[in-house]
Amino acid sequence: MVRARKYIMIKQFSGEPKRSDLQIVEEELPQIQDGEYLCKAKYLSVDPYMRPYMSQYPEGTMMVGDQVAEIVESKNKNFPVGKFVVGCFGWRDYTIGDGKALENPITVDPYVLLDIGTLSVSLSLGALGMPGNTAYFGFIKLCNPKAGETVVITGAAGGVGSHVGQIAKIKGCRVIGFAGSEIKCKWLKDKMGFDYAFNYKTVNADRALKECAPNGVDCYFDNVGGELSSIIFNNMNRFGRISICGAMSIFNTEKYTIPNVVKVDVYLNIIS
Ligand SMILES: NC(=O)c1ccc[n+]([C@@H]2O[C@H](COP(=O)([O-])OP(=O)(O)OC[C@H]3O[C@@H](n4cnc5c(N)ncnc54)[C@H](OP(=O)(O)O)[C@@H]3O)[C@@H](O)[C@H]2O)c1
Repeated sequence: MVRARKYIMIKQFSGEPKRSDLQIVEEELPQIQDGEYLCKAKYLSVDPYMRPYMSQYPEGTMMVGDQVAEIVESKNKNFPVGKFVVGCFGWRDYTIGDGKALENPITVDPYVLLDIGTLSVSLSLGALGMPGNTAYFGFIKLCNPKAGETVVITGAAGGVGSHVGQIAKIKGCRVIGFAGSEIKCKWLKDKMGFDYAFNYKTVNADRALKECAPNGVDCYFDNVGGELSSIIFNNMNRFGRISICGAMSIFNTEKYTIPNVVKVDVYLNIIS
């Protein structure tokens, strides 16, 4: 018998989620059956979508989320002990799985992580997981960037934005990022290779764009929506391309709710 712990949303979020909105609950898991495995979480992912996503579920629901977990017991040959499994198991430490997605309707089936040598398995939730794939496909497929073009990224220091910027540099683009602090902007320029990075909380974004993109913006990777995006839209070139990936500027407001699962599917398809 294993005692598992999980985070339950005990109060619907209002504004920014608070610690008191969540509670850790313990439960005893049964012995695994044929076809099942038991895994222990190694890393949990905390992503912006979780905030609006949870608003469609009643209080008492476990927090949604991907994790990478080590398989510690198994009666399923496809999920052997010692391997790591990536799945949307929610915020919990121990999970029993059978290889299929849990009851959550928008999740994909869990999969065993390929051998990535000495690299951290946490990469399966980052560059090799949803944020990395979102950055790659959302940018390459929707923006179709060409060498010499000017690319603007908001939420630039985040998991998705920082990868979009690096991919844009590999493609030979001129890259401008917006992030929320001086230290993040310095990191974007010094470590991520961005040509320009601005603190959107203190800069006049329109003036900054006019100065560093005098010929306009060709590609915009939008992680935030809101006023900053409106300013960038107004600086787009004709035949420019915009990848609308997320709307973090309103995720914590009551304006942004996802009332039903159908809408979630549509939303994810649009931004994927
Ligand atoms: N289509 C998909 O499947 C998919 C997959 C993954 C992510 N996404 C979307 O992509 C976006 C980025 O996700 P991520 O995983 O990169 O996020 P992340 O790494 O968690 O980055 C979050 C950052 O967003 C910034 N932010 C928060 N509130 C903001 C606001 N009001 N205005 C501007 N920036 C704000 C903050 O940085 P600052 O300090 O810079 O403000 C925060 O640290 C989200 O909108 C997410 O929903 C979509």
